[in-house]
Amino acid sequence: MKAFIVERYGKKRGLRPAEMPHPDLRDDEVLVQVHAAGVNQLDSKIRDGEFKLILPYRLPLILGHDVAGVVVKVGARVQQFKPGDEVYARPDDFRIGTFAELVAVKEDSLAIKPDNITMEEAASIPLVGLTAWQALVEKARLGRGQKVFIQAGSGGVGTLAIQLAKHLGATVATTTSTANAALVKSLGADVVIDYKTQDFEKVLRDYDVVLNSQDGRTLDKSLRVLKRGGKLISISGPPDPDFGREIAAPGFVRLVMWLLSSGIRRKAQGLGIGYSFLFMKANGAQLRLITRLIEAGAIRPVIDKVFPFESTNEAMAYVDAGRARGKVVIKVR
Ligand SMILES: NC(=O)c1ccc[n+]([C@@H]2O[C@H](COP(=O)([O-])OP(=O)(O)OC[C@H]3O[C@@H](n4cnc5c(N)ncnc54)[C@H](OP(=O)(O)O)[C@@H]3O)[C@@H](O)[C@H]2O)c1
Repeated sequence: MKAFIVERYGKKRGLRPAEMPHPDLRDDEVLVQVHAAGVNQLDSKIRDGEFKLILPYRLPLILGHDVAGVVVKVGARVQQFKPGDEVYARPDDFRIGTFAELVAVKEDSLAIKPDNITMEEAASIPLVGLTAWQALVEKARLGRGQKVFIQAGSGGVGTLAIQLAKHLGATVATTTSTANAALVKSLGADVVIDYKTQDFEKVLRDYDVVLNSQDGRTLDKSLRVLKRGGKLISISGPPDPDFGREIAAPGFVRLVMWLLSSGIRRKAQGLGIGYSFLFMKANGAQLRLITRLIEAGAIRPVIDKVFPFESTNEAMAYVDAGRARGKVVIKVR
């Protein structure tokens, strides 16, 4: 089958188009014919070698963390899916590989695709949708009447997180540039801050939750918009010791995580704020709940651009530039 692979880690090295063997199908997995694959910053970070400590992959590696497609075969123990089903997923770490014609996905990580959106739209959802869900529902337990600050509202995570937070009944503040202000408002953002001309720290006060996706300076500033008892959840680092335990990282990696996060943890503790790092995980059950919200019209996909399969490197370069409005998707068939 045709696939795009990482042969050697390297800053901004391209993926190589290659002919690869079909994925091996385990008893608890479903073989999916890929129709569309979403592109994520995580793909670039893995390609560049930045995730070697957290996700020690063996090369060559087929990249790609989001899929929408059709079931072609199921493993011996699979019960919920059959050939012909239209599905979507964020495959598990170490079983990724959606920049390909076929991918094997664990049954527990898969869900039936929402029936009111296209394959390309469905492929844009899983990783960012699950990130928003795991941050706002699982970690923050965000609820009616609370205030949440979601950074970069026009990005892949931001566009989904704004809509989910509104569905949960929260007041949403977000940052974006002038060109994307109308987009984030249309998604439900109540307070829109142009990060090029305004300082969010001067505008926001007494927030319950911040979803941080930017740099260390923004993370520090975020502490000052939260109230005592508030929660600072970061998806852009630094990883904390709880995360190290969760992924059963070796001792020295956990020590590195402890050191990297000690500053922000100490400052947060001093202000009575909870700091946690989130690295999203595959989860078919949560994806099914997201499907319901999409079918009910509470969440809609936001797609910036669809690239043909042969332009996978161009699609990644577009995401790398950091200006995507919503998601970038590769049409595989
Ligand atoms: N830990 C996890 O599980 C996890 C999961 C998903 C993503 N992430 C990470 O979260 C980050 C965001 O991911 P993403 O997929 O949402 O990225 P993305 O879609 O590539 O983000 C692009 C968007 O960011 C906006 N932006 C850029 N600089 C900004 C700034 N200083 N302030 C506000 N907005 C800004 C841009 O808007 P303008 O063009 O208007 O500037 C653009 O719309 C990445 O670092 C990614 O790796 C982590």
